[in-house]
Amino acid sequence: MRIVILPDAASVSRRAADVFCQLIKELPDAVLGLATGGTPLGTYNELVRRNRAGEISFAEVTTFNLDEYVGLPSNHEQSYHTFMHQNFFTHIDIDVSRCHLPDGEATDLALECQRYEKLIDDAGGIDLQILGIGSDGHIAFNEPGSSLASRTRVKALTQQTRIDNSRFFHALDDVPRVAITMGVGTILEADHIILLATGASKATAVRDFVEGPVSSMVPASALQLHPQVTVVLDSGAAGQLTRREYYDYVEQIQCELESKSGN
Ligand code: F6R
Repeated sequence: MRIVILPDAASVSRRAADVFCQLIKELPDAVLGLATGGTPLGTYNELVRRNRAGEISFAEVTTFNLDEYVGLPSNHEQSYHTFMHQNFFTHIDIDVSRCHLPDGEATDLALECQRYEKLIDDAGGIDLQILGIGSDGHIAFNEPGSSLASRTRVKALTQQTRIDNSRFFHALDDVPRVAITMGVGTILEADHIILLATGASKATAVRDFVEGPVSSMVPASALQLHPQVTVVLDSGAAGQLTRREYYDYVEQIQCELESKSGN
């Protein structure tokens, strides 16, 4: 894992936007895996800015979101469909017919999960997946205890996740109990994964997944098994890492190597 520690959340967003832009310049019809939540918002804002400035085009891009609540209509103010359209898709030159999210209103949820997996496969797989991390170490809605080989499926949310996400709802009782989520195994098939974390509230989860053992109790730790993961942190989220100096040193060398090779 490449661990990049930056001073603040704005720098994290710009770095993540750089990774997206570099990929899309090389591969204009890239397949992107997208996340919702507070963490990637700054990245989406930065990508919108660059799109408006003519620096990058999403015209040929395909996207797949990680997850969607079960039972919320897609036009509900807190559905992930609404989140993505309001915060990203309507502001960029993307073809929305190529923007995919699981259908949380499907009558046959198991079939919907299979359909979603097939759609990703048919698109040739995900080139770049962006992830946030839950304070309990979840990625997408793969809560602690999730199989590290899991595929897209219906998952019950933990009480902690529902409490964390209740800030977006009127009351805790309004937060759905169930979601469709890509599995850990699905996520691990992306070619490149970039996980963002900002703020001290993520510091324990970050330490556990970067420096702890691979364990289904910390689903993000499965990323240790992936050959191309970039973890971009602000200093708050990096606050409990025990090998911070080493990560900074490795990153400095990596940057030197890249500037020599012209990347
Ligand atoms: C959202 C998702 C979740 C969030 C995580 C962190 O699509 O998959 O795993 O990334 O819950 O959420 P924030 O960024 O709001 O702290």
